[in-house]
Amino acid sequence: MIIVLLGPPGAGKGTQADLLSARLGLPKIATGDVLRAALRDGTKRGLEAKAYMDRGDLVPDSVILGILQDVMTSPAAKKGAILDGAVRTVPQAEGLATMLKQIGRKVDKVLLFDVDDEELVKRLSTRTVCEGCQTPYMGREPGSVCEKCGGRLVRRKDDEPEAIRNRLDVYRRQTAPVIGWYGNNKMKVLRIDADAPVDTVTSRALNALGSEGRGKAEAGSGKRSAGK
Ligand code: AP5
Repeated sequence: MIIVLLGPPGAGKGTQADLLSARLGLPKIATGDVLRAALRDGTKRGLEAKAYMDRGDLVPDSVILGILQDVMTSPAAKKGAILDGAVRTVPQAEGLATMLKQIGRKVDKVLLFDVDDEELVKRLSTRTVCEGCQTPYMGREPGSVCEKCGGRLVRRKDDEPEAIRNRLDVYRRQTAPVIGWYGNNKMKVLRIDADAPVDTVTSRALNALGSEGRGKAEAGSGKRSAGK
């Protein structure tokens, strides 16, 4: 099963992708993590992405589609994948659909995590992440130690106030239209109210995936976030 996770910055896509990956036995593919790893490794792709990421702008579609081509044709994604933040423009949604069609596959589910702007800003401005395994934390100071891998917690450059504002704006302008694109292409977008404790959000997501399979309607009570 190939699941696309949509939602504004800070909606909890990464957090939920890890939990759903463990529950569903599917690999998580987060383009943000792939790009940060490329940057740490000093590759051409990472260096090309750096300025866009620091400002909170989107990396060019050609770079993202190259990453998706690599990962979706790799043995790791044979059973499917959870795509975290990997589709952020209509050309990316179109490019992914075309590429999957060529290998006899398709996107099976689209989940949209919905959180209002005030909560998003609060989450992002207090977040630290492990510079090793990328696990996000709330309420931990930079320099603390990651529980998962022992790495050092840092603040992301794009979690500075100006970059947060830009990311929300970019989401409204460039990513929110992807929701309509999937709708127009006969793919129901399962909207999850993600302004709730992490475990509740996971249950809502699993319930939406399961109930969708049984032909039921969308899950969550549907708070509106940036651009919707
Ligand atoms: P990326 O790393 O994907 O950043 P993002 O989409 O802005 O998402 P975030 O990681 O900020 O938030 P999230 O929704 O994953 O939330 P999280 O789980 O961390 O991308 C970074 C950059 O890479 C982009 O700006 C762009 O430049 C580039 N890029 C990546 N993909 C691209 C693409 N496809 N096209 C073009 N460019 C691309 O949670 C946030 C915080 O909230 C954490 O502290 C967490 O602990 C906390 N939290 C999570 N859930 C809850 C909850 N239920 N209650 C309370 N706190 C919670």
